[in-house]
Amino acid sequence: MFEALPATGVPGDQILAELRELRAADLPTHGGRLFAYVYDPALDGLDELAHAAYAISAHVNGLDPTAFPSLLAMENALVGAAAGLLGGDERTVGSVTSGGTESLILAVKAARDSRPDLTTPRLVIPSTAHAAFAKAAHYLRVALDVVPVGSDLRADPAAMATAIGADTVLVAASAPSYAHGVVDPITEVAAIAADRGVRFHVDACFGGWVLPYLRRLGADLPAFDFTVPGVTSISVDLHKYAYAPKGVSILLHRDEALRLPQYFAYAGWPGYTMINPIISSTRSGGPIAAALATLRHIGDAGYLELAARTREAVSVLADAVRATDGVRLFTPAETSVVCLASDGVDLFVLADELAARGWHTQPQMAFAEIPATIHLTVTASVASTAGGFGPDLAAAVAAARAAGPADIPAPLLEAAAALTPELVTPELIGGLAEGLGLGTGDFTRMAAVNSLLNVAPPALREALLTGFLSMLQRPTPATARPGTPGSADSPSPSPRSTDGPSPVPTSSAPPASAAPASAVSAAPASAGPVSAKPASTPTVSAAPASAGPVSAAPASAVSTAPASAGPVSAAPASAGSVPAAPASAAAAGQAGDLPPAGAFFGHPLRRRGSAAPPDADAE
Ligand SMILES: Cc1ncc(COP(=O)(O)O)c(C=O)c1O
Repeated sequence: MFEALPATGVPGDQILAELRELRAADLPTHGGRLFAYVYDPALDGLDELAHAAYAISAHVNGLDPTAFPSLLAMENALVGAAAGLLGGDERTVGSVTSGGTESLILAVKAARDSRPDLTTPRLVIPSTAHAAFAKAAHYLRVALDVVPVGSDLRADPAAMATAIGADTVLVAASAPSYAHGVVDPITEVAAIAADRGVRFHVDACFGGWVLPYLRRLGADLPAFDFTVPGVTSISVDLHKYAYAPKGVSILLHRDEALRLPQYFAYAGWPGYTMINPIISSTRSGGPIAAALATLRHIGDAGYLELAARTREAVSVLADAVRATDGVRLFTPAETSVVCLASDGVDLFVLADELAARGWHTQPQMAFAEIPATIHLTVTASVASTAGGFGPDLAAAVAAARAAGPADIPAPLLEAAAALTPELVTPELIGGLAEGLGLGTGDFTRMAAVNSLLNVAPPALREALLTGFLSMLQRPTPATARPGTPGSADSPSPSPRSTDGPSPVPTSSAPPASAAPASAVSAAPASAGPVSAKPASTPTVSAAPASAGPVSAAPASAVSTAPASAGPVSAAPASAGSVPAAPASAAAAGQAGDLPPAGAFFGHPLRRRGSAAPPDADAE
């Protein structure tokens, strides 16, 4: 068991070995076989570059940009790049946040606080909008009006219009939706919102960095950015299709006046006046520097190429689904998502069978009239593995058919049928986890669990999963307590020799290896000089336009969803299945060792080497 605060310090190389061992239990973040949570461009040296950049700014505090102008420069560069990509102009402003959820919370906050006259401000979203909007509404005490989508799973403009009332402070839609990867009719909804004088947020957290490139490559996708009149804010996550390490998203506003209510300012205490554009106050510069390094290294031309690879992979996967009896494409594979539904096979068993073959997909529960589906977020790395998906999908479907639906013990089914959220207790969760074989911490066969959750009403699903997560999140018992300062069991850590940038740690020479056996390691003696605060704010441009400016593709026809929806109820309309685009195959290996320092700055689009097995994790 891992102890975070041992009685005496542990040598650095041992700690890194332990961390690597822990990480070995994770799903592979690289290698093009995990279709959720991670975004992998499969570019040689990019991780190492991002990690090195992260290290340079890890201890810089974004709380005060006058103290750390380096961060201000980096944030302004990132916001400028996002604005350029998303149709912004000289009036566009924005903020760097920690992720999509924070960007959405702040978009809702800005809208709410722009209308202090309202006692119950309201937010209108389509039922396919990301759950983070519900979280924002919950945190901010904004009422949520969820509008059913059309049969094509896109926001229904007429139904959205009906839902907008005098208290509506914000309307939102997705480009694209996470679950199904389809783009809402942004132009139509924006026009309605503008007509009613309401802010309109485009949630492009997921696809905002890939859709512009897909459009440049000729994909028939509608306009969704600031070129659309009525769009007042857009969120785009850099830790998704910009391929930056986790912890960076951008919230853009059409102009400064729209952004102003996003700030929190407080001078009513004896300490420093706190002025925060985002939720956190102190924050690390690490993710911001890593994002900047990622954008600058890949560049505009690089993102175009990565989008081309993603598109190719989507096409291969969609073809595989179309060619396989037992499954069907649930929505058109028009962006970077492949979403499949069942044609006679148990999807949860299928997901397990795919996982057993090294393909980690994301099962999605049935919701209202939308059936259960399997979601695949496709990133550039998948271009080299997609060719192998079809045969494995066919084999997995055959195995799922042979296995039949998940076996849920009868007593569990009976107990579950009688359950309500109020009856969920830690004891019950413990019993369920035991009965479903989760007690061992083995989450490889999840069909029974997913099947059970799939038939649970959403509120019960929430209670069960909250209870389960709470069960997992128990502190590791502390077996040793550190001594008081100066006591024999309390060694002094080596003093840090410098505040400057450290060399990139590599697996062959971890920086901690020179530390004395019992001491907590500090920076190696060879670290660079103490960095001085720069005299003036440097200017950095985030995404160099090595392939010309981002062109705004002409707005193509936008399909309007049938107005099957009532005004403000939560139940979405039923979904239809639509065929997708043709394919071509690609194949190459993934993952490799760290390149020597300096190799980071080689050709930005050098794919990761092919020495390691396809699902090897390069981290
Ligand atoms: C469309 C959309 N919005 C918001 C989010 C939330 O982003 P995050 O997980 O970074 O908070 C996601 C995450 O997948 C998303 O797909």
